[in-house]
Amino acid sequence: MYTEPINNLNLKLEAWTNVITTSKYNPFYYHGALPQFYLWVLYLSGLLLFAYYIPTIDNAYSSEKLINAWTSVNYITNTIPFGAVFRGIHRYAGDAMVVTILLHMLRVWITDRYRQYRIVQWLSGVVLLVMVLFIGQTGYYLVWDERSLILTRMTCSALDAIPLVGTGLKTWFLNGTELTNYTLANFLFIHIGLSFALLFGLWIHYVRMTRPVLTPPPVINYILMAAILLVVAWFPIESGKMADLTSQPNTFEVDWFFLFPYAMLTSMQPGIFWLTMLAGVVLLCVVPYFVRTKEVEPAEVVLKNCTGCSLCAKDCPYQAIEMVPAPAESRFKLLATVKPYRCSGCGVCVGACAFDAIDLPNMPDADVTAQIKALLQS
Ligand code: HEM
Ligand code: SF4
Ligand code: SF4
Repeated sequence: MYTEPINNLNLKLEAWTNVITTSKYNPFYYHGALPQFYLWVLYLSGLLLFAYYIPTIDNAYSSEKLINAWTSVNYITNTIPFGAVFRGIHRYAGDAMVVTILLHMLRVWITDRYRQYRIVQWLSGVVLLVMVLFIGQTGYYLVWDERSLILTRMTCSALDAIPLVGTGLKTWFLNGTELTNYTLANFLFIHIGLSFALLFGLWIHYVRMTRPVLTPPPVINYILMAAILLVVAWFPIESGKMADLTSQPNTFEVDWFFLFPYAMLTSMQPGIFWLTMLAGVVLLCVVPYFVRTKEVEPAEVVLKNCTGCSLCAKDCPYQAIEMVPAPAESRFKLLATVKPYRCSGCGVCVGACAFDAIDLPNMPDADVTAQIKALLQS
């Protein structure tokens, strides 16, 4: 495998970390659970922000009493007790989620656990990544400062450049033909609606895994939370100047985790931008198909020994074993059957079976046991 040299390094790092943390607390083993943890943090902190957020853009006059999205965000930051902390947690947990997703992708890629029987996880992961990035961007529109205005205008021009459907997409994006209060209501709807749609995406991501590791141990959660709080204290979040529809601001600070597409848009034509984005997503989707695959010899059930106890089906990580009704003449009710297209040849079922009733064709149980005995005696 072409990722083998990197994986060897990864395994060494993992082993060294085990020496310090023990395998129970090794973050390498919670690579998927880390972004999941940050998602919960985002939901909780977002709930508090939502309670005080007002999705309007009215700024016909400027006064202390003015109530709009920008002033409501300022109210949260400066008036609500711990509002700035919750805002900071929400912002940096988003960044941390992107970082942990990228590390998670890297991990499944270098350990070669992303194709064949894991293809559903990989493809749904690509969709989740695109969704997370878009949700983060809509978060930046909600602040309704000058950066939000620039990003909204840039999105409109980029959508306009898409042939046939561009104008329709722009109308959907603005929730009308121009920037109004309905636009911000739409941004809020997209931001929250897609955040919850992530749960459905995650269900698809997890449904084919037998025992996905979804939660890190509490100690790791505390460390992750402490890291976020440190960043919040060091780099407090502030809004820019309030957006003014009559102004034409043109420079903005880029948050590289979410806003890199806008940085790209500043230096390329919208057509080239969309093609680059599309190529990036397509490339991620087809990567698993480029790698030449070693033929897997699926596990085989020795029917005469199978008692139908179901232990193998419970342990199989890829749901490759189905328990079917045994023939009428059998003493048992069920029999195990292997779905070859889902089998990775991992051998977990062989270990699970106490009746020598399931074997890997190229590695029979009896041979492995004999080899282990020989090793123990040598
Ligand atoms: C919202 C973001 C995501 C979350 C919360 C998430 C979470 C998880 C979790 C909890 C697991 C189980 C890990 C285990 O049991 O060891 C997992 C597995 C997996 N994820 Fe993700 N994931 C996300 C995004 C992605 C992305 C973007 C990709 C790749 C494009 C991806 C690819 C995979 C693959 C291939 C597996 C199977 C790994 C295995 O069987 O060992 N995930 N994910
Ligand atoms: S070898 Fe056994 S446990 Fe592993 S995937 Fe195949 S059927 Fe499942
Ligand atoms: S663990 Fe063995 S005996 Fe039990 S159902 Fe599976 S193959 Fe049959």
